[in-house]
Amino acid sequence: MNNTLALIKPDAMQKGFKDEIREDIMNNGFIIAEEKTLHLSVVQAKGFYSIHKDKPFFEELVEFMTSSETHIMKLEKANAVSEWRNLMGATNPAEAEAGTIRAKYGTDISMNATHGSDSNENAEIEINFFF
Ligand code: CMP
Repeated sequence: MNNTLALIKPDAMQKGFKDEIREDIMNNGFIIAEEKTLHLSVVQAKGFYSIHKDKPFFEELVEFMTSSETHIMKLEKANAVSEWRNLMGATNPAEAEAGTIRAKYGTDISMNATHGSDSNENAEIEINFFF
């Protein structure tokens, strides 16, 4: 078993997709080992996404991620990082394969419904950030 960190972001939470996304996750063989809902502070959002601090979209990202609540989950499955990224689909919902979470629930490249760790190393860092 491996772990990854999954976020249901403010856009999907505001649109009421939390339960559907959790169902998709469990129907795809993941165990939700830990979970909580938080309204991220600016400090938390900047800290979590510090890897993107020099990107042109950083301020927009922090503003979006602090706009309302985020649901935070530690997921368990074999190859959890790649399995969750496959289930989410491409970062830009317009490019995400039909049936993926971002294709179903995302709005645009900023408001893309969910987040997932991009490596086992970052999964450990991101899980420790919130749990
Ligand atoms: P996520 O997978 O959480 O990782 C970084 C986030 O930054 C990404 O999802 C998007 O929400 C956001 N992001 C990435 N690229 C852009 C972009 N070009 N413009 C605005 N937001 C972006």
